[in-house]
Amino acid sequence: AGEQTFIMIKPDGVQRGLIGEVISRFEKKGFYLKAMKLINVEKSFAEKHYADLSSKPFFGGLVEYIVSGPVVAMVWEGKQVVSTGRKLVGATNPLAAEPGTIRGDFAVDIGRNVIHGSDSVENARKEIALWFPEGIAEWRSNQH
Ligand code: CMP
Repeated sequence: AGEQTFIMIKPDGVQRGLIGEVISRFEKKGFYLKAMKLINVEKSFAEKHYADLSSKPFFGGLVEYIVSGPVVAMVWEGKQVVSTGRKLVGATNPLAAEPGTIRGDFAVDIGRNVIHGSDSVENARKEIALWFPEGIAEWRSNQH
């Protein structure tokens, strides 16, 4: 298997009808969708996903936001998909994100920034294990 990353469309992205747009951008770039589910996560689960940020003043609000509605959790695979995926996603603060990126095109608020993408190969591995404990099906035959 090639490099994989974890991408999550956050509740604001789902609510605003941006699921197809996000998937389309990753597909058109040339990445492969390996796993996907629409789920409501529990507060304790959101706290685990964002554990590294637990000391930040915005942690409580961030967790409240993530549990406020369904999210779309995905695993994408392809060449340097972690770093290139971050480029498709754009800077964390949508006001700093370049137009042409997902956050740059669709968001203005750092607390409602549509999407999450793993920031390193190591964190991608951790996040995929957390969000997809059931494992990920292989595509049949060697399509890529
Ligand atoms: P994400 O890429 O999911 O990683 C951590 C998240 O914390 C980030 O996107 C933002 O949604 C959120 N975040 C980061 N900084 C702030 C901030 N200053 N205020 C509110 N939310 C923030």
